[in-house]
Amino acid sequence: MSSTNEVILSTDGLTKSFGGLVAVSDVSLDVERGAIKAIIGPNGSGKTTLFNLITGALPPSSGRVYFEGQDITGFSMHQRTRRGISRSYQITNIFPYQTTFENIRLAVQGCSGRQVNFYGMLKKAGEYSEFHEKVIDIAAIVGLDAARLYVPAALIPHADQRKLEIAMALATEPKLLLLDEPAAGMSIEEIPDVIDAIVRVKESYGDELTLLVVEHKMDIVMRLSEEIFVLSEGRMIAKGTPKEIQENEQVLTAYLGGTDEELA
Ligand SMILES: Nc1ncnc2c1ncn2[C@@H]1O[C@H](COP(=O)(O)OP(=O)(O)OP(=O)(O)O)[C@@H](O)[C@H]1O
Ligand SMILES: [Mg+2]
Repeated sequence: MSSTNEVILSTDGLTKSFGGLVAVSDVSLDVERGAIKAIIGPNGSGKTTLFNLITGALPPSSGRVYFEGQDITGFSMHQRTRRGISRSYQITNIFPYQTTFENIRLAVQGCSGRQVNFYGMLKKAGEYSEFHEKVIDIAAIVGLDAARLYVPAALIPHADQRKLEIAMALATEPKLLLLDEPAAGMSIEEIPDVIDAIVRVKESYGDELTLLVVEHKMDIVMRLSEEIFVLSEGRMIAKGTPKEIQENEQVLTAYLGGTDEELA
């Protein structure tokens, strides 16, 4: 895993209140281009809200978001997507009766060259043979079996559906990809498969892709991340390497009284 010294994403004092509840409180973090970093924290600690502030799904109460040195705090989600910030699609965005291949191709066609192009999506599939290769490439990177490509998306295993969601996000050619609990809903046997897929994606794209992964469980991010940010009740209580975080007393306490089981 490599990363450059150039900061691609930065938040400065990011804060979000819902009425009296401060869901994200004064969070400042830097992510370097090409890095793979994680945000962890117990349930309700503000991880998803922080993601929503970065993608523009929610406006912050205060604080700033910078992307490639530009203040994007006032930008819409669409403007951020065009600049290269993408989050994993949820399975609800997938056409269940279309094949896995068709779903990826629609994402590739619709977002070709990072210009989201709705008219392009309506054109005949046959006009787009040039997208075929790209679909096959992306499917291979996330580890979708060739045999599964021609099966309706609703019928493939859960782990493959998660890989499909990641593939569709990659089709938009993001510079920064945000994954919110990529292993959620997976069985114990499926989790390593999904983690492998993320590792492979990172290796394939190198510094072209920066990854920020939200996770509840630390074991999921141990193998993945070079740096982990820990949220507790909206505040960043620690940041460091996976090893530093695992040994951090404050982090252990934040996780339900700090049982090793919760962290392992
Ligand atoms: N739209 C909203 N309106 C009001 N409160 C909200 C809203 N979204 C989140 N919250 C509250 O903000 C806090 C942080 O929620 P958030 O979803 O960001 O936590 P999380 O760390 O992602 O949790 P989980 O691990 O369960 O996914 C919680 O107390 C939650 O109830
Ligand atoms: Mg969440």
